[in-house]
Amino acid sequence: MESGIIRNALDFVKEVFENDFSGHDYFHTLRVFKTAARIAEYEDADVETVQLAALLHDVDDRKLSPETHENKDRACAFLKENGVSEARIEIICKIISEVSFSGGVVPDTLESRCVQDADRLDAIGAIGVGRAFAYGGSHSRPMYDPGIPPKLNMTREEYSKRKSTTINHFHEKLFLLKDLLNTNSARQIAEHREAFMQAFIEEFMAEWNGDR
Ligand code: ADP
Ligand code: NI
Repeated sequence: MESGIIRNALDFVKEVFENDFSGHDYFHTLRVFKTAARIAEYEDADVETVQLAALLHDVDDRKLSPETHENKDRACAFLKENGVSEARIEIICKIISEVSFSGGVVPDTLESRCVQDADRLDAIGAIGVGRAFAYGGSHSRPMYDPGIPPKLNMTREEYSKRKSTTINHFHEKLFLLKDLLNTNSARQIAEHREAFMQAFIEEFMAEWNGDR
C-alpha cells in the first residue's frame, strides 16, 4: 500500500515525463521505483526514502531539464510542497546526485546504493536491450558495424565524440554493469538479465554472420 506522498510523487512524475521519448520516460521511472523498493526491502533500507529518490531521480536530469539539474530544483520543490523536512530533502537530493553521476560514484548510504542499483538494472536484460536500441535509433546510430570495434576505458569526452554502434554499447557499458552493483539483492536480479543479454548478443552475431 502506498502512502499519500508516494501517490503524489507518482502523479508528479507522470506529468513530468509525459512528452519524453529519449528513454527517460515515465515507465523507466516506474520500473526503477518498483525495483528499488524491492531491493530496499531485501536490504532492510528505509523503503520510503528509496521510493521517493527513485521516483524523483530523473526529473532534474541533465538532458531533460538542464536548467534545474544543478540544484535539483524540481525534486526539491515537490518535496517541499509535500511537507518533507529540509534534512530529509537533503538526503534524497544526495541520493539523486549519486545516482545520476555518470562517473559512477559509490554511494555512502544503503538507500542510495539501492536506487543506483535499480537504475543500473533497468539498463540490462530484455528492457536494457530495448532501451539500447531505442536510444541508438533516436541518436541515429547504426545497430552494428563490423568496421567499428568496441573500445573500453574511454574518457567521457572520447565517449561523447566517438561514432559508435548500439552493439558496441553492450561491450562498452552494459556488460560491465553487473560488476558495479552494490547490493547482493541486485546482483541476484542481474544474473538472469545478464545471461539473457549475452544470449541475445550471441544470437544477433550468429544471424549477422549467416550461421542461423
Ligand atoms: P541513465 O538511466 O543511467 O541516466 P543513460 O541516460 O546513460 O542512463 O541511458 C539511458 C538508456 O539509454 C540506457 O538504457 C542506456 O543503456 C541507453 N544508452 C545510453 N547510451 C547509449 C549508447 N551510446 N548506445 C545505446 N544505448 C545507450
Ligand atoms: Ni534513470
